[in-house]
Amino acid sequence: MQAFGLYETDDRGRSCYRPPIPAFPRMDDVWGQYERARKAVEEFDRALSTFPVPDVTGKLFARLDAVHSSGAEGTTTTFTDLLEYQTSLSRARDPEDARAVAATADAFDALAESPSLSFTEMALAIHHRLFRNAADSMAAAGAGRLKAYPNGTYDRESPAGTFHYTAPASTADAMAEWESFTAARDDRPELVRQALSHWMFEHIHPVPDGNGRVGRLLVPLALRRKSTLHHACAFLGEAVHLNKDIYVEALKDGRRKGDLGAWTRVFCSLIAQTAAANLDRLHQLEQVYQHWRSVTKSARAHSIVHALVPWVLVTPTFTLRDARVAIGKDLSFQAMNTAVRRLESTGILKQVETSTKERLFIAPDVIRLFEPVAPTLPPS
Ligand SMILES: Nc1ncnc2c1ncn2[C@@H]1O[C@H](COP(=O)(O)OP(=O)(O)OP(=O)(O)O)[C@@H](O)[C@H]1O
Ligand SMILES: [Mg+2]
Repeated sequence: MQAFGLYETDDRGRSCYRPPIPAFPRMDDVWGQYERARKAVEEFDRALSTFPVPDVTGKLFARLDAVHSSGAEGTTTTFTDLLEYQTSLSRARDPEDARAVAATADAFDALAESPSLSFTEMALAIHHRLFRNAADSMAAAGAGRLKAYPNGTYDRESPAGTFHYTAPASTADAMAEWESFTAARDDRPELVRQALSHWMFEHIHPVPDGNGRVGRLLVPLALRRKSTLHHACAFLGEAVHLNKDIYVEALKDGRRKGDLGAWTRVFCSLIAQTAAANLDRLHQLEQVYQHWRSVTKSARAHSIVHALVPWVLVTPTFTLRDARVAIGKDLSFQAMNTAVRRLESTGILKQVETSTKERLFIAPDVIRLFEPVAPTLPPS
């Protein structure tokens, strides 16, 4: 068991794990799950390409992923909460919790547009976004840096009850290996490469905290960067949230058994499950859009209503101020108010009570698709 990777003893006698560059599993061993994941994610990717409204990936699906990927780690902010927090009201039931989730969504937005960074720079940039405004000053000081202290997790089988990830002194070297493995290209399937890359990343645990969220966000970004997919849409946060124990056990099992076949199958199942749920949402979203277009078609050709409808589809929670900033600052408050009221009268929008003068609107047809968690099948 100890032969898979290295255990290095640090200056305090802790045994810290250094993962190897893992061998690719035999494709025969992972074929069913791999093919299901590849097809599901490619179908979602294609559907995003033909979707009639732009920005749907970042504005809706990456936000949903941020909610789930963070939810898997214990945050309680919902999709509704996140969207409300990201309006000009910045309100939330638990502002610190919402800030952490919003930071993950912001990291996606920022990183989806930065193709010149290395994968390590991407990981640190995500970490920086996640922790730069953390309430804990030590966490904020470490934002965007490799860990300075050892990190570990409870592990019944480890002699001291704790499994320590890669020692800080070896982290830079381990990350250099991870970088070249993650960036390499050959004729083997990229989805499998990124499954192995995620396993390595989690075992190095290069940053003090947030390794789960950072590592999961790297998966869609890497698959887009490597042109496997047109969109950064290979999310796994939702399925991890629903199957956290399976995900963590499979990560551990790879190390214990020294065979990443089972891990690759679980990873592919998580990707397939999330992509299938998202594709279903996207189809329903298109129906919502067609319905909205038909109930607003009587508006004058130059009416703001026609600009508002696609914007609301991907921004289903907003204030009048947000709408004016997005659609045209030169529009009068009155003109925007009239257009919004018209959408309210057709049932597209609903006003939400707030304690301020600023008015908040939601599009329940859209919010409903992203919340609550849609029932999905456990990975096979
Ligand atoms: N025994 C383990 N071996 C390898 N990786 C693990 C193990 N247990 C958990 N992980 C990985 O580490 C992540 C948790 O690490 P970390 O705390 O740095 O990230 P996080 O996003 O802040 O999550 P959390 O809020 O749970 O602390 C998990 O989501 C999983 O990816
Ligand atoms: Mg943590």
